[in-house]
Amino acid sequence: MAPVTNQAIIDQVNPKDHPGKDVYGVIGHPIAHSKSPIIHAYFAKQTNQSIHYGRIFSELNAFKETVEEFFARGGKGLNITVPFKLEAYALAQKKTDRAQLAKAANVLWLKDGELWCDNTDGVGLTRDLQRLLKNQQTSLKNAKVLILGAGGAAQGVIDPLMAESVSQITIANRTFAKADQLIAQFQPSAMAAQVHLEARDIQNLDQSKTQANDTFDLIINATATGLGDASPISKELIKAISNPKTLAYDMVYGKETRFMQDARELGLNASDGLGMLVEQAALAFEIWRHLKGADSPLDIDGAIAAVRATY
Ligand code: ATR
Repeated sequence: MAPVTNQAIIDQVNPKDHPGKDVYGVIGHPIAHSKSPIIHAYFAKQTNQSIHYGRIFSELNAFKETVEEFFARGGKGLNITVPFKLEAYALAQKKTDRAQLAKAANVLWLKDGELWCDNTDGVGLTRDLQRLLKNQQTSLKNAKVLILGAGGAAQGVIDPLMAESVSQITIANRTFAKADQLIAQFQPSAMAAQVHLEARDIQNLDQSKTQANDTFDLIINATATGLGDASPISKELIKAISNPKTLAYDMVYGKETRFMQDARELGLNASDGLGMLVEQAALAFEIWRHLKGADSPLDIDGAIAAVRATY
């Protein structure tokens, strides 16, 4: 890649400032809040590897130059966060199957002079869900899943859930038309995967459910409500559509949301999305450091605890 001058790299994470270390970073706008450096430092210490991992703020119109400058100065790999995941995907010359499916990338690295991208967000989520469900002796296989919300976060979890052979995905959103649109978009792949995919009215979830006499094994809150103090569904509704083994999962992390509190008060297991953040980071670390995914030595629980200690 042609060297260019980008002050962001020189000022923030300049690989040349860390001789003898492999240098990585997370790039976003904003970026100051990112917990990724804590997670990667934890994995590096745990596996005895000498790396430096920092935060890189990029102006909205300077993503490409910032990335190119980082790699031109010897950087080894980047995580990509909001709002650059689509741009990262477009920029990479080589794209993994997962990235192609998502059409967005959260990991970049150079291999044989070519820029590669991957998307570890989806598998990060399903790894986290499997870990949590295993604690209660269940799994995603044949699970009936309810996704609350129909924005970007909801869209990103549908393919990864189907890949884990869930039996049903129900999408419920405040604006029904958006849930319906998602169903239309994913129906062909759902049919191929033999997953029942449906949109339901978020207000009447319990009524149609009572007729079918079934409950959801997993409820994922993929709405933006966790950022404030609201929940997309009432506590009574959670009660009506859950069973004692239902897991309530909020994709927001770093706080106990109203949705999680309600579920816990009903005696259900609830989790925020911090494990997903740690798992997607672990997958990136495994790619960069050539660790085998299946027998990854990375201590996920330890990394989660390390991040929680900072709140
Ligand atoms: P993201 O990319 O994080 O998913 P988004 O695309 O803006 O963000 O989507 C936000 C989601 O949260 C939408 O499903 C939105 O519902 P609408 O499509 O009806 O707008 C949902 N949402 C936001 N605030 C909500 C609230 N107070 N109650 C219920 N759903 C809410």
